[in-house]
Amino acid sequence: GSDTASTTISIASLLDRGPADPNNVCVNGFVRSVRSQKRRSFVDLGDGSTLEPLQALLSPEQAQSLSTGMAVRLKGAWKESRFPESQTHELHVTAIDTLGFSDAATNPIQKKYQTKEFLRTIPHLRSRIPFNSTLLRLRSDCISEITRFLAAEGFTQTHTPIITSSDCEGAGEVFHLESSHKGPISEHDDGTFFRSPKYLTVSSQLHLEALAQSIGNVWTLSPTFRAEKSDTKRHLSEFYMLELEMSFVEDMSVVMNVVEKLVQSITLPLLTSRVGKELLATRTRDGEETGESSEWLRDRWLAMKGPWPRITYTEAIQILQTSGINFTNTPQWGLGFSIEHEQHVASVFKKPVFVTQYPRDIKPFYMLPSRESTDMGETVDCFDLLLPEAGELVGGSMREHRLDPLIASMRSSGMIPHGPPEFISDEQLGSLKWYVDLRRWGSVPHGGFGLGFDRLLGYLAGVQNIRDVNTFPRWVGRCEC
Ligand code: 4AD
Ligand code: MG
Repeated sequence: GSDTASTTISIASLLDRGPADPNNVCVNGFVRSVRSQKRRSFVDLGDGSTLEPLQALLSPEQAQSLSTGMAVRLKGAWKESRFPESQTHELHVTAIDTLGFSDAATNPIQKKYQTKEFLRTIPHLRSRIPFNSTLLRLRSDCISEITRFLAAEGFTQTHTPIITSSDCEGAGEVFHLESSHKGPISEHDDGTFFRSPKYLTVSSQLHLEALAQSIGNVWTLSPTFRAEKSDTKRHLSEFYMLELEMSFVEDMSVVMNVVEKLVQSITLPLLTSRVGKELLATRTRDGEETGESSEWLRDRWLAMKGPWPRITYTEAIQILQTSGINFTNTPQWGLGFSIEHEQHVASVFKKPVFVTQYPRDIKPFYMLPSRESTDMGETVDCFDLLLPEAGELVGGSMREHRLDPLIASMRSSGMIPHGPPEFISDEQLGSLKWYVDLRRWGSVPHGGFGLGFDRLLGYLAGVQNIRDVNTFPRWVGRCEC
């Protein structure tokens, strides 16, 4: 019909609030299942707006035209159900428009249990699974919440580039960019589109530092890319990072306070929201045997209440060394933590934990040295946020905002040649000249962090593998769709 735009209602609205006119209801969706009895049939319809399907009643003749997976528009009347324990009302169908046919036999999405590994091979279709619709709506709700929270705190949302000249983290795990042009592109060219090598960004931090020193506190939620070969539950080649930078800040606890309040502002609404209820309902349905019940998930959300402990790296090493646990990698001052170490430290506190002041040698060049050093060696003013069971969620630091120490740090990291600071040339600074320039004209103390957004969503949803949270996951060897 032509009148549908005004009367079509999402299944979520229909179930939550009911229709404007009970005798004139119109819903769009995909057939999840059809069951026929002698005199009447039932169809479960999903449109991705809720976990639970809409139950509709129709005649066996009408039902014959339906098959699982097909797209339809149903029109009918909204009437009280005779079995109100499952759904208070049902749709009594008067008309069916077939919009898109689906052959139930060949449809890769089936109602029976399908393994996560199989579903990862069809990311373009798996979002039709009800729980995956919940994950998509969780992602959307969290972005709204973050946007609201940070705007209220006076942060400005900005956009930073994906194509960059530098490897911010200095880990050498970047994707190189190539253009399709063959041969010289311009008269002075070296065969590359931008006249020098470019990469997909690993972090928006350096650009955010520029903006924070122009307009104050800023943030962005941006795709970031890492050519890490890590074939783990926590690593992707492309993931969203929420990054934030604060200027005129000297005390790192101000930055950590924002992390804490921000994550809480996303988590606590789940206790009452539709998406939160859907996440809990899914646990009740299929989480009991794994121990991941709805209580387990609720407790995880409740454990987000503050205040979160803040310990130093040196204290964390002591906790690990006196734990009596035989870790695969022996914890030792001066080495990074393994995932096992991170999980143990957070499990001791049963809460998210900030670990601060890591050794200088295992952190990137841009971090500000700590004011006090340890007996063990030099440390930097940085923090990681570790989650129970999951490990690292956030990495942040105060930044080296002074020109000469920054150059010294770049030198000792092997990024630029050695020599006195006054003799550094633009050429030697190379692709980081602009970043060093930020320290020349009105540099201020500043700091910020990056939060792995896909990791956070997985944690909140109780999904163990980041490949099942990210909508179109890419990891080493896998990028088909
Ligand atoms: O700890 P990372 O590498 O920190 C930075 O990139 C800083 N420049 C951020 C900043 O200060 N603005 O990355 C930040 C977070 C990690 O804590 C982790 O949650 C996530 O990004 N992350 C990944 N998530 C998924 N897949 C990967 N390969 C990830 N690498 C990092
Ligand atoms: Mg990190």
